[in-house]
Amino acid sequence: MQQIISPARAIDGVITLPGDKSISHRYGMLGAIAEGTTTISNYLTGADCQSTLACMEALGATVEQRDGKVIIHGGALREPAAQLDAGNSGSTIRMLSGILAAQPFTSQIGGDESLSRRPMQRIITPLEQMGASIDARDGKFPPLTIHGRELHGIDYTLPVASAQVKSCVLLAGLFAKGDTIVREHIRTRDHTEIALSEFGADIEVDRRVITLREGAHLTGRELYVPGDLSSAAFFMVAALLMPEANLVIHGVGLNPTRSALLDFLISMGASIKVLDLQQTAGEVVGDLRIRASKIQGGEITGALTAALIDEIPALAVLGAASEQGLTVRDASELRVKETDRIATIESNFRSMGVEIQTAPDGFHVPGHQKFHAAEIDPQGDHRIAMAFAIAALAAKGPCIIQGSEAADVSFPEFFSTLRQIAK
Ligand code: S3P
Repeated sequence: MQQIISPARAIDGVITLPGDKSISHRYGMLGAIAEGTTTISNYLTGADCQSTLACMEALGATVEQRDGKVIIHGGALREPAAQLDAGNSGSTIRMLSGILAAQPFTSQIGGDESLSRRPMQRIITPLEQMGASIDARDGKFPPLTIHGRELHGIDYTLPVASAQVKSCVLLAGLFAKGDTIVREHIRTRDHTEIALSEFGADIEVDRRVITLREGAHLTGRELYVPGDLSSAAFFMVAALLMPEANLVIHGVGLNPTRSALLDFLISMGASIKVLDLQQTAGEVVGDLRIRASKIQGGEITGALTAALIDEIPALAVLGAASEQGLTVRDASELRVKETDRIATIESNFRSMGVEIQTAPDGFHVPGHQKFHAAEIDPQGDHRIAMAFAIAALAAKGPCIIQGSEAADVSFPEFFSTLRQIAK
């Protein structure tokens, strides 16, 4: 499928966004292993989170989707009849492997071509330390064959800043003998810790040390998934690229381990107001108002890189139009996302006549650049498709986004929402 995006002059409107991808995955998995019924409102309809639900169903949970809600009847899992399909979703395969490693059966889990190239050593190492037995293609890639075992808790310091790895270890820890401790050098999103506590686990967080006590008994509950801030990022950048903008986004998740985006944009000169803060199941939710602003340059390095990792494609686009440009470092993780995002950002910028210098762990985009009309190839990567659809709004002529269905992974309504607010 392709989408033609015409240049815009303003972003104007009031929108709400689909549920947060990270939180949806966690609620889906925990709902399936918790005793009783879990009812989730605003669960993300994107393909990734549907992959999680399909896996949990194949593992014996009953999943109903009606009236905009996901209702899960959970409990003990059973051996799946066929290989589990995580589709394009790194979160599904990495987090679910933690649960599978502790089950009294063998399971296989794989996914699409992109997922089959993504590194799994980062979860295999700690799970094996807990007593798991896992076979992987070439020792490190999906599909994984996971022979369930009795696990024991570990004290594990994350070598890569990864919330998926942290979550994998904690989910395995739910079934392990003894306490499970995870230590982070760089703090990553803490949705798993919050959700585990909401479902009834005994979990303690002391700065960057997380302790999960043995013998958790999870029970089902009612939950609401806040709007996805990483999806909001595309429209925020769109507003900041335009000479005229007045955009309100309702009900966005503003968990402090995710909201570095707001501080970073504000530090670049963005006019962003946070309105009406509330809490739901331990997660912070609020409304955002974004107005047209003059954007200075910026630098993303160290812990900030980890905090903004999913927003970097959108920020790269903003950087090219900013006063001084954008430098990103310490971001070698971008090379092992759904695509090598440093390479896909570079190739699409080049198609648009935008200059970029890349490095193994990042890039520099000079500011004050013009976007030329071009054909964009996201190579199946949802965030690249959406980031360059936003760049297209600021281009000199209509652009074609090839393979635009890539956006369905995290935001099926992306193009219709964009058409609603781009004037
Ligand atoms: C996610 C964590 C991040 C992020 C991904 C979702 C999660 O990956 O990039 O889109 O839900 O835990 P890492 O675990 O590699 O940091």
